[in-house]
Amino acid sequence: MRNEITSFSPGSGRRVSPRAHVASDASSMDLCGAWQFHFSKRPDLAPRDAAAMDFDDSGWDSIVLPAHWVLQGRDDWGKPAYTNVAYPFPVDVPNVPDENPTGDHRLTFDVPEGFIPEGGRVLLRFGGVESLCIASLNGVEVGVIRGSRLAQELDVTAELHPGSNVLHLRVHQWSAHSYLEDQDQWWLPGVFREVKLLARPASGIDDLWLRADFNPHTGEGIIIPELVADVGAWPITISVPALDLAVTLASPEDMGPINMGAVDPWSADRPTLYDVEVSNAVETRSLRVGFRRVEIVGHEWLVNGTKLRLRGVNRHEFDPEHGRVFNRERAREGLMLMKQHNINALRTAHYPSHPELLELADELGFWVIDECDLETHGFVYDDWEDNPTDDIRWRDAYLDRVERFFERDKNHPSVICWSLGNEAGTGSNSEAMAAWLHRRDPERPVHYEPDYDGTHTDVVSRMYATVEEMADMSRGTGTHEFGTPGRNAVLANRPMILCEYAHAMGNGAGGLSVYEEAFDSLPQWHGGFVWEWRDHGLVQHTADGAMFNAYGGDFGEEVHDGSFVCDGMVLSDGTPTPMLAEFAAVASPIKLTVTGTLLRVENRRHDGDTSDLRFICVDEHDGHVVSQEELKVAHVGPAGGVVEVELPEPASPGQGESWRTVRAELAHDAGWAAEGHVLAWSQVRTHAVAAPRLWTRPGARTTSVGEQLSLGPATFDPHTGELRSLHGLGLTGPRLDMWRAPTENDSLSDFRSYVDVEPTASRGRGAPGPSLAAQWRAAGLDRLQRRVLAVDICSDAVRVLHRFAPAASRRSILLELVWRMRGDTLTLAADAQPSTGWSGTWPRIGLHFLLPADVGQVDWFGTGPRENYPDSRRAARVGRFSSAAEDLVVNYAVPQESGHREGLRELVLQGMGLRVMADEIAGTLPGFQLRAHNAHDAAAAAHPHELPRSLNTHLVIDAAVHGLGSRSCGPDVRPEHQLRPSAAQWSLRFGA
Ligand code: GAL
Repeated sequence: MRNEITSFSPGSGRRVSPRAHVASDASSMDLCGAWQFHFSKRPDLAPRDAAAMDFDDSGWDSIVLPAHWVLQGRDDWGKPAYTNVAYPFPVDVPNVPDENPTGDHRLTFDVPEGFIPEGGRVLLRFGGVESLCIASLNGVEVGVIRGSRLAQELDVTAELHPGSNVLHLRVHQWSAHSYLEDQDQWWLPGVFREVKLLARPASGIDDLWLRADFNPHTGEGIIIPELVADVGAWPITISVPALDLAVTLASPEDMGPINMGAVDPWSADRPTLYDVEVSNAVETRSLRVGFRRVEIVGHEWLVNGTKLRLRGVNRHEFDPEHGRVFNRERAREGLMLMKQHNINALRTAHYPSHPELLELADELGFWVIDECDLETHGFVYDDWEDNPTDDIRWRDAYLDRVERFFERDKNHPSVICWSLGNEAGTGSNSEAMAAWLHRRDPERPVHYEPDYDGTHTDVVSRMYATVEEMADMSRGTGTHEFGTPGRNAVLANRPMILCEYAHAMGNGAGGLSVYEEAFDSLPQWHGGFVWEWRDHGLVQHTADGAMFNAYGGDFGEEVHDGSFVCDGMVLSDGTPTPMLAEFAAVASPIKLTVTGTLLRVENRRHDGDTSDLRFICVDEHDGHVVSQEELKVAHVGPAGGVVEVELPEPASPGQGESWRTVRAELAHDAGWAAEGHVLAWSQVRTHAVAAPRLWTRPGARTTSVGEQLSLGPATFDPHTGELRSLHGLGLTGPRLDMWRAPTENDSLSDFRSYVDVEPTASRGRGAPGPSLAAQWRAAGLDRLQRRVLAVDICSDAVRVLHRFAPAASRRSILLELVWRMRGDTLTLAADAQPSTGWSGTWPRIGLHFLLPADVGQVDWFGTGPRENYPDSRRAARVGRFSSAAEDLVVNYAVPQESGHREGLRELVLQGMGLRVMADEIAGTLPGFQLRAHNAHDAAAAAHPHELPRSLNTHLVIDAAVHGLGSRSCGPDVRPEHQLRPSAAQWSLRFGA
């Protein structure tokens, strides 16, 4: 018996050659909408004869396509499953489990008279079906389709007839081809992209490729057409109304370069598109063409003669309710948000996106690495033994995939590179794919990260490489762990990118700026793609109705990778995380540097001067604006143009702090952001004179009455010296706090550590080592016990000495707290001194105060507006900010450390009537964190909805914190951003 499920074949039946996705005025019929649907747990349970025209499907359920059937809220239709590397079934090629969920879909539809063109054809087009689909029309099997995220057309002219027709699709979740689709994402079966009927007129224009070249030397555009049409289809006219140009090709022999004269080129910065019509007597095809030249010259990858700089993200197709079902409006919103954050490039990880995504990328302006639907990562566990990429039985399937992906997308100006796929090892099949692309498209380079030696690709690509490795590669030295020694000497002559870096999982990634410096300074490097754009949490509800974003394990999967599916710069619901703002600040192509009276403006855009921008200089004193003016800045040319502008002398207004901020903002609405949108800013402190410590009146005296110890507005516990209240408010503490709820960068340890081996000396390698969280727990930092050594009551001060130490340890920290009244103000001078014997790093060293729940509005003078950490602070500026308390913390998919803000000067809780001021000590200010949950509660919850109702608010004033790093999948926190055991000091003032 024929077994389609285990077949290596790329597909069969009435498959037609792949074609470009280009609009046509020929008729088409959308078959999406409500279908009859039947779910079976196993193929052998699927209804017999379900393809027959007269089959009675009235007892079936209904499903609205496009859809993944596991996301329809039906517990009896199977569940989503998440794995990163592992296959969720035994590795037993080409077999898959007997338990192979199967969806039968049936649609009865009417074809109007005249839809089927005389002498022409009708194609049944599928945008994407996961993973194997057997299609039957009117009882006749018309095709077997494989390649889940690739389009496939079937010629159904013979079976389709006017009047009522029945289309039956049997979709199996698992097939041999599931082995080629092991991307790090949810396994989501179903017909998730469009199903359409396309009427193809006799002598229509079946396929077209308009290669639109731009000559950067002459400014002229050239179209090199490749049209596929039968003999009767000619003459065919190509017209470009905006250029007043129409060229008629009498026959195929006339096809050759057509000079378009002067054109505006296409680039991601200025995506000029021209409407083009390709028409003949029976059909008009329309598309938008962008003129641009992609070439590699030595180690430079150029577009229109200018070196590319990719400020990219990896983008999966994902929606928290609909999975990989495409929604054009939401996709557009996502791309607009990217543009607003200085993202200029996309990698379609790890399969071709919906074709309309590329239309949007053409229109809005993104450099795109288009990636084929291919990953076999699960073979890595056996050292790639039996990997399909090197198995000739899969050759046709690999070639079919590359052909279908290329032909669909070939016309898009945004696509500047083809990628064979991701993490599928190398072998004769990846080589064959690359060879096919090189022959078919002479212009655009081929990318494939696992080709470490660069034997069949054009762009050298790495993921999560350290900056030291990047520098070594640039020098032609060093070795990739899976590459051939010495090979970097050859690769150094080629362009290099990071196809993945800065793993955006949870709080982090820190350390973006070191990458920016590497991209800017190492000649072969052209930038990279952050992993990744969006968290993939799926919306679920608990029994009592609480909504949450589910990740791996939440559907009872036997094998899964937990929250590793939530590693985006925007949360599952599309909310930007602070890392997105950090990326925007680090990667902005407009570089501003203000140093008092001098402003330097550098334009690193690919294309376009700064005439669309205005530059505003704002002077603030103690966080209040004192002057604001628009600067006159000459237009700065792209690709590295620089101007310097003299600024007026800033005022020096006595005591306090003055800051000057210059920002570059849009002078007019752009398609992707409104007037006033800020692209870049730079800030400098222009003046600082500390307030004199002159206390005009003697401070209040301490009084001690029974169990009550008071000092001015404060009361203390006479035994512990702990603050009990301030101005009658419930403010208690502080205790020394050295623990944070681990981020995923703190808790994962597959990547190496920089705690014991320094990155520069080890060329970025570090050393294997336990996770930070494990080290911190082993040191007992999450369970410090306190012993009161002294509570000394002086006439105007309370001096407290506490010793903090974990059980079973000789290591300790002495915390001395001196409370004193200075005039009307209660002050706290605190000193923490570690004993000898501490090693490694600490997450934080902070003073932890307890406040009542619901503190309401929070105002502060410090850094903001978003959370910031030592290695993630470029988006943070100094100023006055306010926020609702709950918005200070980010709702990461897994509760964890969040909300720290450095450089605190003043914190005001209006609702409570509390003001805390911090003074600089040795040039340093503390940071703060205010949140409803302490680190223990946050660390114990796997999802936000599991956090307990909190009875308090926790205020931690940190003398220092450890950086974020990106060790969940990348480099550890670099030494300059680590918190090593050391003494700490605080100088705080409390007021009402
Ligand atoms: C890469 C992979 C991505 C993703 C990432 C970690 O190895 O290509 O698909 O898994 O790691 O999130």
